[in-house]
Amino acid sequence: MKLKKENSLRIIKTTKEMQAISLRIKNKGINKIFVIPTMGALHDGHLSLIKKAKKKNIVTVVTIFVNPKQFNDKKDLNKYPANLKSDIKKLRNIGVDFLFAPKNHEIYPSNFQTKVIVEELQNHLCGISRKGHFDGVTSVVLKIFNIIQPDYSIFGEKDLQQLIIIKRMVKDLNIPIKILSHKIIREKDGLALSSRNIRLTKKNREIAPIIFKGLKKAKEDYKKNNLSSINIIKNLRKYYLINNINDIEYIEIINPENITYPIKPKSGDYLLVAVKLGSIRLIDNLKF
Ligand code: PAF
Repeated sequence: MKLKKENSLRIIKTTKEMQAISLRIKNKGINKIFVIPTMGALHDGHLSLIKKAKKKNIVTVVTIFVNPKQFNDKKDLNKYPANLKSDIKKLRNIGVDFLFAPKNHEIYPSNFQTKVIVEELQNHLCGISRKGHFDGVTSVVLKIFNIIQPDYSIFGEKDLQQLIIIKRMVKDLNIPIKILSHKIIREKDGLALSSRNIRLTKKNREIAPIIFKGLKKAKEDYKKNNLSSINIIKNLRKYYLINNINDIEYIEIINPENITYPIKPKSGDYLLVAVKLGSIRLIDNLKF
């Protein structure tokens, strides 16, 4: 089995082959492995994770798998953008070593029954409206970790609750993997990059930058006026409503350690929002 040619991306479709390659890299002490799990439709946010991984100068494995078990809404799953050809081009350009892109039956063979549940942390924020979503995420991420046996993995800070939950799982289950994160990558107008942005209507795309503008304004107001969480949230809600963001799922301020809700935010706490523009659900956050 040949490992890789310089600057060439190897595309792996089966769990068996991926496991064999990882074992070979690890057992022979050839190198360490950095896995970047994704669901494809790669944008600059994903590429920033991959670039950070590449700085470690170890073997990089990007996974692309649109995981049906983390979509509580079937319509959202069916409309999830996929563009493997263009993803592969991006991965080649950036110099990724392996792409693991399994079909559904490779990850969930018939009679698959197991779930990994991080109990408490999922009962907040996005977990309230997206029942079962985080069970789907943790189950597939652990499966990816077990197949690839990486030394490092990385997740974006836009999905902050996902990051917190994965870190908890890794700690609780003594998984010997270092979890890194990367700051949110934004469009010039402030909209956080997301694979769902391309599904926004023209009008809602124009409204969307208000999400981050509101977060920044809330942070500035807080610094000036030393407001309590309740008042920051109330003011931000008002700001969104005035600016045509009417479907607000949540605005919360949390301490990210264990997702608790401080009466007054302190440095290191986060302001998070989830809103819907048309049928598209967008999330964003800002650190105090
Ligand atoms: O953040 C994502 O794209 C997904 O939730 C992940 C981590 C790849 C698991 O399917």
